[in-house]
Amino acid sequence: MKVGIDLIHFATSDYFLGMDTFAQEKGQDVNKFYVGLGQEKMSIAPPDEDIVSLAAKAAEPILQQIERQAISAVLFATETGVDQSKSAGVFLHRLLGLSSRCRMVELKHACYAGAAGLQMATAMVKANPQERVLVIAADIAKYDLNSSGEATQGCGAVAMLVCAEPRILEIEPGSGYFTDDVMDFWRPNHRSTALVDGKYSTKVYLNSLKQAWEHFHEQTERGFEQIDYFCYHIPFTKMAEKAHQTLVRKVGLEYDAAQEAKTLPGQIYNRVIGNSYSASLFIGFISLLDNVKESLAQKRVSFFSYGSGCVAEFFTGVVQDGYQQWLMTQSHQQQIHSRIELNYQTYLQFYYQVDFAQSNLTLPHFNRGPYRFCGLEGDKRIYAEYSENSTTSG
Ligand code: CAA
Repeated sequence: MKVGIDLIHFATSDYFLGMDTFAQEKGQDVNKFYVGLGQEKMSIAPPDEDIVSLAAKAAEPILQQIERQAISAVLFATETGVDQSKSAGVFLHRLLGLSSRCRMVELKHACYAGAAGLQMATAMVKANPQERVLVIAADIAKYDLNSSGEATQGCGAVAMLVCAEPRILEIEPGSGYFTDDVMDFWRPNHRSTALVDGKYSTKVYLNSLKQAWEHFHEQTERGFEQIDYFCYHIPFTKMAEKAHQTLVRKVGLEYDAAQEAKTLPGQIYNRVIGNSYSASLFIGFISLLDNVKESLAQKRVSFFSYGSGCVAEFFTGVVQDGYQQWLMTQSHQQQIHSRIELNYQTYLQFYYQVDFAQSNLTLPHFNRGPYRFCGLEGDKRIYAEYSENSTTSG
């Protein structure tokens, strides 16, 4: 029985900050960002957008195509959790009208948890082929102002339906993993922004790739030449390029244009969305599916997930025949192209607006829907389904 991704869709926010605006404000050469980091824009979440509203926006187009009451579990991966106790998936459960006969759990390990969710969902379906698991990876990457990480913010959510006989990607058995207790990026409970030892984090990322690759190769005996396209966790697109160069050289090959072509299509969306932590690898995969013009049917794609701290995993999947008819390319591109550009002052207003020291909070209306985070009532988060003509809250 094949198990894997049946449908996949991403959502990002309605606003972006251009790296040209960012560079001008910081008095830096824009090519540091365009060339040095490989970033043109970062999606910025307004105060009334969070991981729940982003996740609902990502998942709803999938649920419209299937029997939503058949979803048996939601595995919600995030670094940007909204509650220390209640899982974000339960807010999502009501917004999306899922069955009460459905389990919810939140998974965390920095940017890695989305891959963990996908592997767990695959195992659940293998154990019981009736399972239809919704895997969500959703994050808002936020660093301190004027820190090295500020240029690598962004936000996004990916929803993946995992089931038997998938229409888009079969996840292949076997994977390579690597864990090491390091402090390259972390976020203590009292902080809303991540702390990072930036340069060190890039070194740990590349070392983790080499270690996870070795384990993958030992476990599966699949070689580099048997992989057609390579997707990496993308904190900024230059990092993915460096990752691919590192892997190519590790297997004793020259890095040339042919090698570059195996990974570049998987960076197109991330270049204009920025980092979305747990979602970033899968936005990269969607970018590959949407942007490679030749058929990817029966092509093997690799996935390298890296979560600072650190946990990493390398695994592969095979794209299924006829996958093209199930892609939601138009929605992805329309979201990217219809975003509103922020000036630096409005970016700062968005950055500072939510003060969670308050128990009651009504947020101004910036998010264009279809779901929004309305604020707090007695420390309870309030979400609304929103369209231009009607608003339902609860
Ligand atoms: N024209 C062209 N290139 C330029 C340039 C210019 N005018 N000015 C600088 N550059 C190049 C630099 O040479 C450098 O390239 P190399 O890395 O190839 O040497 C690149 O632009 C970046 O310049 P700096 O090293 O000076 O940049 P920085 O120190 O300000 O920040 C960073 C770089 C440390 C990665 C920072 O962006 C950061 O802290 N990011 C957050 C942490 C992160 O994303 N780490 C990635 C691994 S961890 C992970 O993946 C998990 C996660 O999601 C966070």
